[in-house]
Amino acid sequence: MTAVMDALLNRASEPRLEAPAPDAETLEKVFACAARAPDHALLRPWRYLVIEGDAALSALGDVFASTCDDDAPEKAREKLRKKALRAPMVIVGIASHQMHPKVPEIEQTMSAAVGMGFLLLALEAAGYGGMWRTGDLAYHPDVAKGLGLGDHEIITGFLYAGSVSSEKPAVPRPHQKEFVSRWPQ
Ligand SMILES: Cc1cc2nc3c(=O)[nH]c(=O)nc-3n(C[C@H](O)[C@H](O)[C@H](O)COP(=O)(O)O)c2cc1C
Repeated sequence: MTAVMDALLNRASEPRLEAPAPDAETLEKVFACAARAPDHALLRPWRYLVIEGDAALSALGDVFASTCDDDAPEKAREKLRKKALRAPMVIVGIASHQMHPKVPEIEQTMSAAVGMGFLLLALEAAGYGGMWRTGDLAYHPDVAKGLGLGDHEIITGFLYAGSVSSEKPAVPRPHQKEFVSRWPQ
């Protein structure tokens, strides 16, 4: 078994995260891993925002809270603000679509998503925990605007990153018979 297979077979997303967040040296390596995502025509149709520290995370919380209706109760705003504080670092994955005669948007989004997967795996291999989340916030225009996305960009997800405070219970993994078949049969 190779080290890569071993890492894949033993990985799990971890929702319970605490400080310390990945350090600068780790970040450099994991983003280099993300940049190995297969990429049709080498468009590099992805970028990432690293949000770390109390002030930055609370600013992200304000952006989340801004999606509430004007008449929403303060409790609803507070709930959204808290979502930004689930980890000491949030990495926002962004697909930056470009016009290309042979590479449709969907392929560029897929490349950006693979990059997120590589990033998550690399963080885990470096000894940190991570959890890829989306939800309505990832698709809300006010969040895109608040984070400075252009019209050609979409959020692929929020990668919550940090040190694992306690491991989540094991997730059942499907048997290959359930999702692999030969064609034609
Ligand atoms: C694009 C994408 C978005 C996701 N969004 C959420 C989310 O908003 N909330 C959540 O609890 N899990 C979300 N997940 C699932 C978790 O990241 C995780 O994969 C799942 O809990 C299974 O855990 P595992 O990675 O250990 O198999 C998302 C996964 C993907 C790929």
